Amino acid sequence: MIHYVPMTHAHVAQIAQLEKICFHDPWSENSIAAELENSLSLWLVALDGETVVGYVGSQSVMGWADMMNIAVHPQCRRQGVAQELVERLVAALKENDVTCLTLEVRASNEPAKALYGKLGFQQVGRRLNYYRNPKEDALILRREWGK
Ligand SMILES: CC(C)(COP(=O)(O)OP(=O)(O)OC[C@H]1O[C@@H](n2cnc3c(N)ncnc32)[C@H](O)[C@@H]1OP(=O)(O)O)[C@@H](O)C(=O)NCCC(=O)NCCS
Repeated sequence: MIHYVPMTHAHVAQIAQLEKICFHDPWSENSIAAELENSLSLWLVALDGETVVGYVGSQSVMGWADMMNIAVHPQCRRQGVAQELVERLVAALKENDVTCLTLEVRASNEPAKALYGKLGFQQVGRRLNYYRNPKEDALILRREWGK
């Protein structure tokens, strides 16, 4: 049974490991830990027992939130974990008077694009050559819900 909690220091090392597994350009343990000291940040973690199987990170300013990253352990994918993380994040952001959530996704990242499409995100722009390793455009997606 997966449960969902706000990130704490106890989760940081496991999140950094997942970052290395899931991304070419992973966040370091220090960068992730710094989010815990940032009052603008909200990160949620999916736990199977004490094992981190997924996480989502966000920062909000003046009612606008950015999703910094989301990942699910390869062995735990297609079980609705990412969908649950995003829906719980949106619910928590609504409580904090945030009215929209924006993110960037690699143009070729079909699983992530399918996830965001299912969750009601719409493309609002494109950043040319935004990513490195390998170089690729970012699609800018947004979900708005108003007050
Ligand atoms: C993208 C990612 C977070 C999805 O996590 P997940 O827990 O497997 O996603 P979910 O099980 O919640 O999927 C929800 C919906 O998203 C879509 N989806 C997710 N993975 C998909 C895939 N591989 N192919 C097609 N659709 C997919 C489906 O519509 C799915 O609903 P369904 O299973 O009922 O068909 C995961 O693949 C991942 O960690 N990828 C590597 C990191 C990454 O790319 N992060 C995004 C950066 S922008």
